[in-house]
Amino acid sequence: MGKGGEKMTLQSVGTGIDNGGKKQEHSLKKGLNGKLIFAIIASALGSSFQHGYNTGVTNNPEKVLLSWISEVMGNRTGIVPEEGSVTIVYALAVSIFCVGGMIGGVSTGFIANRFGRKKGLLLNNILVFIAAIFFGSAKAAASHELFILARLIIGVNSGLNAGLAPMYLAEISPINLRGAVGSVYQLVITISILVAQALGLKYALGTPEHWPVLFALTAVPAIFQILTLPFCPESPKYLLLSKGKEMEAQKALGWLRGSLQVHEELEQMKAENDAVKLLPKVTVRELLTNRVLRIPLIICLFVMVAQQLSGINAVIFFSTSIFQQSGLKDDSATFATMGMGAINVLMTIVSLVLVEKAGRKTLLLLGFGGMAIDTLLLTIAMNFTSIEPNLSYLCIVLVFIYIIMFASGPGSIPWFLVAELFNQSARPTAASLAVCTNWTANFLVGLAFLPIIKAIGPYVFIIFVALNALFFLFIYKKVPETKNKTVEEISALFKQQMYE
Ligand SMILES: *[C@@H]1O[C@H](CO)[C@@H](O)[C@H](O)[C@H]1NC(C)=O
Repeated sequence: MGKGGEKMTLQSVGTGIDNGGKKQEHSLKKGLNGKLIFAIIASALGSSFQHGYNTGVTNNPEKVLLSWISEVMGNRTGIVPEEGSVTIVYALAVSIFCVGGMIGGVSTGFIANRFGRKKGLLLNNILVFIAAIFFGSAKAAASHELFILARLIIGVNSGLNAGLAPMYLAEISPINLRGAVGSVYQLVITISILVAQALGLKYALGTPEHWPVLFALTAVPAIFQILTLPFCPESPKYLLLSKGKEMEAQKALGWLRGSLQVHEELEQMKAENDAVKLLPKVTVRELLTNRVLRIPLIICLFVMVAQQLSGINAVIFFSTSIFQQSGLKDDSATFATMGMGAINVLMTIVSLVLVEKAGRKTLLLLGFGGMAIDTLLLTIAMNFTSIEPNLSYLCIVLVFIYIIMFASGPGSIPWFLVAELFNQSARPTAASLAVCTNWTANFLVGLAFLPIIKAIGPYVFIIFVALNALFFLFIYKKVPETKNKTVEEISALFKQQMYE
C-alpha cells in the first residue's frame, strides 16, 4: 500500500514537470546562438581532439616507430634487438594510452567537483604540454621510455576530457539541444582521428625525421582551448547546484542563452536542486547500493561497454584486407580506410541532427540492430569470397554500412547519456565509473583482439553478431528515451520503474 501510494505521487510529480517542460521547450526553441556555439567549440575542440588524435596517430607511422625503437635499443646494447621485444615495447606504447584513459576517467568525479567543469578542462591542458614536450624530445633523447611516458600522460588527459567535456556540453545546452551538443564530443573525435591519419601518412609527417612533430602537434588544440575557453562561463548547473552561487549561475546562463530571460530555466534548475538536497554527495558505494541509482548506472556502463565491443575495431582492422582482396593496392587501401573515417564524420553529423528528432533510444536500437545484421551478412559474404570473388564488392558495401550504423548513435550517445541519466549530485561519480569502464573495455579489446583473430580469423564477426544482438535486446528493454526530458523527469522514470 505504502509503495503504491509513493508510485502515484511520483507519477503526478512527473506529469507536473512534463507540463513545465513543454512550456519550456517553446521558449528554448531558438537555443542556439553565437555564444553557445563559441562555448561548444572552445570546450569540445580543445578536449575531444586529444582523445581522437592520439587514438589514430599511431596507425600510419607504425613501421617508422618500430625501426626507431629497434635502433634505440640496439644503440644501448650494441646488438640488434629481437623483433619480438621491439614489438612488445611498441604495443606497450600504443596500449598504455588506454591505461592513462582509465586513470583519467576515474579521476573525473573528483576534478569536476573540486575545480568545476571549465577549470578542470583548462587545468587538464597542463598534461598536454608535458606530454607534447616528452613526445617532441624522445627522439633527441634517444629514449623510448620518454615516449611511453608521454603516451600515458596524454591518456590521462584524454580520460579526463572524456568525462569533463561531455558533462560541460550537456550542462550548458538547452534541453532540446542536449543530445546534439553532447554528440559534438564524438564528432570531434571522428574528425581528429582522420586528421591524425592524414598527418601520419608518409607523404606528411609520418617519416623518420618528422614523427616527433606529428606527436607534439597535440599541443595545438590545447593552446586553442586556453585562448578561448576562459571567455566562456562555468557550467550554470555547477555554479547553482554544486556551489550555490545563484547570481553567478544566472549570469552564466544569460551569457550562454544570449538573453536575460533565463528565469524559467533557472527555476527548473532550482527544482533539480531541491531533489538534490534529498540526496547529497553521492559516493561510488551509494551508486552501487542505492536501487534508484543502480538502474541508470547499469545502463550507462552497459552502453559504454557496448560501444567498445560492437566490433568497430574488427571492422576497421579487416577493412584493409577486404579492400586489398577486391583489388586495391596497399596505398589505396590506406586511403579507403581514411574514406571510412570520412563516412564516420559525415554520419556523426547526420546523427547529431537525428538525435533530437528520432531520439536516443531509437538511434541506439537502429545502430546496434543494424550492426548485428551487417556483421552476420559480412561473415557469410567473407566466407564465400573464395568461391565467388565478386562478393568482395558486397563486403566493401557492408563495411561502409557498418560504419554508418555505428555512427548513427552507438558512437556518440554513450558519451552524454551519463550526463542525462543522473542528477547533479550523482553525475560526476557516475561519469567517473562510466568513462573508466569505456577505457577499460577499449584496452581489453586492444589486448584480446589480435590473439582472437589469429585463432578464428574472420569468424570473429560471429562474436559481434551475438554481442550486438544482445546489446539491442538490452537497450530495447532497459534504456528509457531521454530526448526533451529534464533530468528530474528522467530520475522520476527510474523511480517509477523501481516500483513496477
Ligand atoms: C644510434 O647511434 C648512432 C651512432 O652514434 C646515431 O647516429 C643514431 O642517431 C643513434 N640512433 C638513435 C635512434 O638514437
